[in-house]
Amino acid sequence: MSDSVKATNIVWHHSQVTRAEQEKQHGHKSAVLWFTGLSGAGKSTLANAVAGALYERGAHTYVLDGDNIRHGLNKDLGFTQEDRVENIRRIGEVAKLFTDAGVLTLTAFISPYREDRDKAREINGDSFIEVYVKCDLDVCEERDPKGLYKKARAGEIPNFTGISAPYEEPENAELVINTSHESLEDSAARVLAYLEERGILQPAS
Ligand code: ADX
Repeated sequence: MSDSVKATNIVWHHSQVTRAEQEKQHGHKSAVLWFTGLSGAGKSTLANAVAGALYERGAHTYVLDGDNIRHGLNKDLGFTQEDRVENIRRIGEVAKLFTDAGVLTLTAFISPYREDRDKAREINGDSFIEVYVKCDLDVCEERDPKGLYKKARAGEIPNFTGISAPYEEPENAELVINTSHESLEDSAARVLAYLEERGILQPAS
């Protein structure tokens, strides 16, 4: 799919309420926390734990989760490289809409290709925070919460990330969290501390 705009005769409308105004009303800056990693690494679990902790702090959050989005917005996409590229392109754009609305957006997608994550970063600029949810393949495979690795090993799922499709590790992630070494609570606290350090979230009073 081309990056250029297909439609003609379209005009950009500026929002009356700006992102800065939304952020001011919410009492925090908006950002995209982009969780990437293998299936079973703990992306959704961590994203939801962070969203919960942020909610406790009164922040406006939204979690965009791969499995959920593939039931609706992206239900026309499968797991070929082409479809994953489109999956991540759409989420990069949707995340930008949420940040425009002053929301702290958390995305949990395998997003296996570096180039696609870099494009999402480009679209979102300084707001983009890549969180590598790191976990060795053998640990993910042992966890196998959805029984998918077993099926993939049996040849029942084609293009399965880590088994028959690649995962390209981030090289410059803002945060790397190793879920086989760090507890969920500590990991979530580390993400919140990072948001405070960046001035996105006010320190807890
Ligand atoms: S991505 O690669 O396009 O970013 P996404 O995060 O949306 O993937 O979806 C991954 C989820 O789909 C996995 O957690 C798993 O439950 C399921 N899944 C089904 N088929 C595959 C496959 N071939 N490879 C990886 N995940 C798969």
